[in-house]
Amino acid sequence: MNAIKVGLLGIGTVGSGTFHVLQRNQAEIRGRAGRGIEVSMVCRRDVAAARAVVGDAAVVTADPYAIINNPEIDIVVETIGGCGLARELVLAAIAQGKHVVTANKALLAVHGTEIFEAARAKGVMVAFEAAVAGGIPIIKALREGLTANRIEWIAGIINGTTNFILSEMKAKGLDFDVVLKEAQRLGYAEADPTFDIEGVDAAHKLTLMSAIAFGVPVQFDKAYVEGITQLQAADIRYAEQLGYRIKLLGHTRRRENGIELRVHPTLVPANRLIANVEGAMNAVLVQGDAVGTTLYYGKGAGAEPTASAVVADLVDITRLATADPDHRVPHLAFQPDAISNTPILPMEDVISGYYLRMRVADEAGVLSRITTILAEHDISIDGMLQRESADGEKQTDLIILTHETVEGRMNKALAQMQGLPTVLAPIVRIRKEDLA
Ligand code: NDP
Ligand code: HSE
Repeated sequence: MNAIKVGLLGIGTVGSGTFHVLQRNQAEIRGRAGRGIEVSMVCRRDVAAARAVVGDAAVVTADPYAIINNPEIDIVVETIGGCGLARELVLAAIAQGKHVVTANKALLAVHGTEIFEAARAKGVMVAFEAAVAGGIPIIKALREGLTANRIEWIAGIINGTTNFILSEMKAKGLDFDVVLKEAQRLGYAEADPTFDIEGVDAAHKLTLMSAIAFGVPVQFDKAYVEGITQLQAADIRYAEQLGYRIKLLGHTRRRENGIELRVHPTLVPANRLIANVEGAMNAVLVQGDAVGTTLYYGKGAGAEPTASAVVADLVDITRLATADPDHRVPHLAFQPDAISNTPILPMEDVISGYYLRMRVADEAGVLSRITTILAEHDISIDGMLQRESADGEKQTDLIILTHETVEGRMNKALAQMQGLPTVLAPIVRIRKEDLA
């Protein structure tokens, strides 16, 4: 059988990784896919740079439509990034009857519903393993390996840049700004790292996992997103003293009244495996009713780890290309008529434990007034730490850990505590998950 022909839109980090892995492992990949997979065209504006990667092995063009409109191309791989041109090209490729592989989480988290519907109508596949946690085959695990399960929750470290920053802040006691500069110097963080540090990149990935796990449409606009820019070294230190690590966690959970979908800094017990995922590595915990807890760990970015996922999708499509479209694995794991309208819960209804750090006057009755407010809101205290005041100091840091409560209730208690004259600075609140 002839090799399946692939066109790469974009041949930067992920595109060139894909090209190299396909070249190097050609024989094995052919053995697994049942036929060869060949990159026959690549596209980028800097044609000379593209030529430097592929040599004479593929046709190089600066015009993406030269690939999309070429009837010889079976699969289009989109690794340009962003939501503008990438959306236009992916929809155009689908309209031409091409299968699509993309690493673009932003595109699918925001425009997934439109893209999957277009692909379904045309009978083509859109595969996106590389879009979530780079080289970790988490989409495959959720969509196929765990298909017997009712998924209960997913919690993941799904942004390498922020995990590197948090690891360095903990290890070296440095503040956020200092470590961010180091991350940029080492090439982990982008020149504009906003999507990473503000939690947006993690929320894109979480939105995709949540849709697959719970059979709901992709709804990035309903995700709660909070990054790590406000985190202080003091909170990382206090969390450590209380037996916790702070991670930027993506968390999605099925509740009776809907689905939680949230990314924010989170205290995780230091003895959990996921709390010990350091540096730029990613990890995803999945809780299924039959299997229990499973953990997936690996590189969430980089040329070849991400290419590993792109090529896996190419092999899947090659194997399934001739199957009746109704009998392929559905894009979002559930058949289109089984997608439910279970609501994504507003943050007020989310249930979580909390870490509260308060700068308070060091005088009699302060603690009792605070604990009274918590008790009035039926919020139970799980642990407490008071930093010893230095000689002559009239203020101290009071850290309180609470058991789980509803966020709306905590908001009311926080407003009251903040109003106390003995609370001297804005209260720091970080959510806490036991992940048991
Ligand atoms: P790069 O910036 O390295 O590559 C982007 C490529 O697209 C370049 O070759 C660029 O070349 C080309 N391109 C950009 N605009 C155009 C255009 N108008 N016409 C034709 N080609 C264009 O990005 P990455 O490879 O890092 O990322 C690609 C995608 O993969 C993104 O969606 C990203 O989020 C995702 N991803 C990346 C990971 C990583 O580790 N880097 C990990 C997981 C996902 P030129 O400028 O010459 O046109
Ligand atoms: N910027 C992302 C990260 C790259 O830091 O994890 C992979 O999606």
